[in-house]
Amino acid sequence: ADDGYRLWLKYDLVRDASQRKEYQKQAKFITIPNSASPILQTAGRELQQGLLGLLGQQVPVLSESKGKGGIVLAVAANPELGEEGYRVSTQSGNLVVTGATDKGALYGAFALLRHWQTGQPVANVNLTSKPRIEYRLLNHWDNPNGTVERGYAGSSIWKWQELPEVIDPRYRDYARANASIGINGVVFNNVNASARFLTAEYLQKVAALANVMRPYGIRVYMSVLWAAPKVIGGLQTSDPLDPQVRRWWTAKTDEIYKAIPDFGGFLVKANSEGEPGPQDYGRNHADGANMLAEALGQHDGIVMWRAFVYKANSNGDRFKEAYQEFQPLDGKFAPKVLVQVKNGPIDFQAREPFHPLFGAMPKTPLVLEVQLTQEYLGFATHLVYLAPLIKECLESDTYAKGPGSTVAKVVDGTVDQHTISGIAGVANIGSDRNWTGHPVGQANWYSYGRLAWDHTLTSQALAEEWTKMTLTQEPKAVSTITDLLTKSRDIYVRYTTPLGLHHIMGQSIHYGPEPWLEKSARPDWTSIYYHKADAVGLGFNRTATGSNALALYAPQVQKQWGNPATCPPDYLLWFHHVPWTQTLNTGKTLWNELTTRYYSGADSVQWMQQQWAQVQPAIDAELHADVAARLRIQQREALWWRDACVLYFQTYSKQPLPPTLTPPT
Ligand code: GCU
Repeated sequence: ADDGYRLWLKYDLVRDASQRKEYQKQAKFITIPNSASPILQTAGRELQQGLLGLLGQQVPVLSESKGKGGIVLAVAANPELGEEGYRVSTQSGNLVVTGATDKGALYGAFALLRHWQTGQPVANVNLTSKPRIEYRLLNHWDNPNGTVERGYAGSSIWKWQELPEVIDPRYRDYARANASIGINGVVFNNVNASARFLTAEYLQKVAALANVMRPYGIRVYMSVLWAAPKVIGGLQTSDPLDPQVRRWWTAKTDEIYKAIPDFGGFLVKANSEGEPGPQDYGRNHADGANMLAEALGQHDGIVMWRAFVYKANSNGDRFKEAYQEFQPLDGKFAPKVLVQVKNGPIDFQAREPFHPLFGAMPKTPLVLEVQLTQEYLGFATHLVYLAPLIKECLESDTYAKGPGSTVAKVVDGTVDQHTISGIAGVANIGSDRNWTGHPVGQANWYSYGRLAWDHTLTSQALAEEWTKMTLTQEPKAVSTITDLLTKSRDIYVRYTTPLGLHHIMGQSIHYGPEPWLEKSARPDWTSIYYHKADAVGLGFNRTATGSNALALYAPQVQKQWGNPATCPPDYLLWFHHVPWTQTLNTGKTLWNELTTRYYSGADSVQWMQQQWAQVQPAIDAELHADVAARLRIQQREALWWRDACVLYFQTYSKQPLPPTLTPPT
């Protein structure tokens, strides 16, 4: 039975005997030079381990090639491959995996394994690739007490109380999984950071983990509490312009680099949701970020300063707040600072328009932050494949420098010629045996890493790749599952928040429907703040007659989204308050389109169940049963969402259900 622990690194024996023979003929030995660095040695070990599974035989590792039919790992300067790129090709009878650095060779080794794992031919192999984004991070929201903020797959895998002495073998398995998809940086601790991580005691623990990550080409970063100089440093202030505070951070940074010589840098959530920050002292985000950049000094590290900020709402629209605080600071950040921006302007909703800061801060490298943990997407019970969500954001056109200035090209630095670039995924893993709770959550971790490496890959290709490596190679089943995964996010949107509805979920837990929520600690945490249902219609008017958040976008975007007739229906209620009886560009009235989407979305979960039932013979029985059981919850809860929302909105619309739809029972 498959308990899911091995993720996409299962390396089951290649079933087709003739194919296996082909591979065997090309895998008589693995060569790595005697002088191999730890990372290159990892590449050799990974190849050997993978081939042992795929081919059922131990391939010897040699320091020199013995004739033909082997795999040669090599490092050779090649400016075309950049720091981390690789080439895999056949040269005089050997498969040569070359990286310009040892990291490149490691990624090349995983690319070759993937090639064979997905059943590709040996002949004429020519895999060349280099990452489009430099800093490819996973952000854990893990706390020192072992809980995970917004984590749905058990508790934290980091056992702080046992570190640095006990090195759980899982840490290495985690590093392998990340390296195999190109992730090269991790933040172990929550953005709502505890100052404890900066104490000498915890630095030793983090250093022990960094030692496990290093041979896999993964650098370690840390979320820091802005108030640390006060909380653990004994200072009266955390003012970034105070000389004592500056000295404290410089000394602390030096201390970190003593423990972790390749430390990657800091991630900061400041002046957001009650966290302390430079604004507490009348300073701005740039003052804070630049102070940390200065503390990093000559060390090779960066600052990722988050733009997820919003104040207790006075008069405005939360949609605009990050833009208002950050856009005026463009050009004020030190060269080592990147500003980290969530994909959308509110908070990881099932569908959001791209964040208006993308394209609006040409002088500042922006990190795209996406969420893999399904905080607003059904936790670990709903099957939602997230690559389409991430791609939708990446492919959105900001028009910042004319058509084609996509978010992807803003983030990878090509639009504004930045030399550093980054992307961050909020991790969805925990102590559950299968890492992600929902087995398909693994596909979200996987496709995130692959997209961080190459954002031009398609959701469909990645779903197929993951399915073949993880679930089955049976062609019909692969195509059924690929189709199911690729459609799942749109289905989730339909039965929860169709047509651009957002933030109507259960209070604080962020699960299930609660569109009727009127009271919360703050108005912009309620549902009615966002959907604005009334006797006339539904949706948030963000045009010039409303909050005018649309004005934050380029004129071309404003033009398209500003007119309900041309605004894509998927974004409609993000920007318009639409009368219930108005006919949309879909040909239906708002009310009929809304209810049709809720109903077809919920019906589609039954379709998902049917598709999943069909692939049963091709899938491990235990794993199949697990997903089937979760789909039963999803089906029940899709009806819950549908009925709750349709009946609630009906109290405003006073419209009957279209005759084609049967009323809820
Ligand atoms: C969301 C989430 C919080 C998290 C925050 C953030 O609001 O609910 O738990 O801390 O995002 O990204 O900082």
